[in-house]
Amino acid sequence: MPEKRVTNDDLAKIMDTSDEWIRSRTGIGERRITEEKTTANLAAGAARKALDDSGMEACEIELILVATSTPEYYFPNTACEVQAAIGAENAAAFDLSAACSGFIFALNTAHAFLQSGMYRNALVIGADVMSKVVDWKDRSTCVLFGDGAGAVVIRSEDSEKEGIRQGIMGSEGKGGEVLTCRARSNANFLTGKEPDTDYLYMNGQEVFKFAVKKVPECITRLLEETKTEKEEITYFLLHQANYRIIEAAAKRLKLPIEKFPMNIEHYGNTSGASIPILLDEMNRRGELKRGDKLVLAGFGAGLTWGAMLLTW
Ligand code: ACO
Repeated sequence: MPEKRVTNDDLAKIMDTSDEWIRSRTGIGERRITEEKTTANLAAGAARKALDDSGMEACEIELILVATSTPEYYFPNTACEVQAAIGAENAAAFDLSAACSGFIFALNTAHAFLQSGMYRNALVIGADVMSKVVDWKDRSTCVLFGDGAGAVVIRSEDSEKEGIRQGIMGSEGKGGEVLTCRARSNANFLTGKEPDTDYLYMNGQEVFKFAVKKVPECITRLLEETKTEKEEITYFLLHQANYRIIEAAAKRLKLPIEKFPMNIEHYGNTSGASIPILLDEMNRRGELKRGDKLVLAGFGAGLTWGAMLLTW
């Protein structure tokens, strides 16, 4: 995480908002904002920590996937920047874009590569610097987001009892206009037009409706497909967008909110980074036990959604 904390009260000094408004609607109390780090800097920091935990050397990594929607460059991709920063010279490296579902999509993709036998391990990173794409003059969106990165190392092992069991992903492009962030476009030497760029746009209420419907639906489908009872799951780690979305999902699934850990109060919505950051914090606090069944679930722009069942 970047070190700089920006509280709701800090924001209230520069725009017409309040701690009460933000906290009561979203559960967010503060967020981290980077002053000079790029997405790749944060991603490389998370990657180094994940490598330390895994006991692997960077040169052993065969695949690097970075889920991000806020790359510093169109090219090279962020994953190649990370590769260079950590010295993972034997890896193939590419980015994957699925906004707030990005980490689930990347983990599922890496898992498929490992299952196919093409690679034996992968470094999967979710990283976003949302502070550079939100409009700091739009109080209805800028207060929601923060910057951060999280990473995991996965390895193929013949274990029926541990690891990733199954992932599912879904997309609905026709609903995409409710949450957008335009890349540089329309530049054309024939017309002499300068490129257009834009800030993040969100229809908050539509995104809210989509999320509270889709998340329980896709978790239910995952549990059915894997013949798992919801009571067997120790924790559901959902993308940290808004505590009210998570609360509504818990209610629809008829599960106690205690099964849905949250850290949104401290970081806001870090997009593709939110799930691995939460996973890492719980792991470091010793809250995850071997054999715990976990469901990870993400949802976001695209529209996209996905969920994953794993045994810790
Ligand atoms: N501070 C104070 N007032 C504000 C602020 C703010 N930061 N932002 C908006 N308002 C005002 C509005 O101007 C409006 O005022 P008005 O009634 O005088 O016009 C009023 O508050 C209500 O605005 P709404 O947009 O209707 O507020 P709503 O209750 O819908 O809450 C929110 C907005 C929190 C964004 C909600 O729609 C939401 O949680 N949506 C989910 C979206 C989400 O979490 N997206 C995350 C990104 S997407 C993703 O991760 C997948």
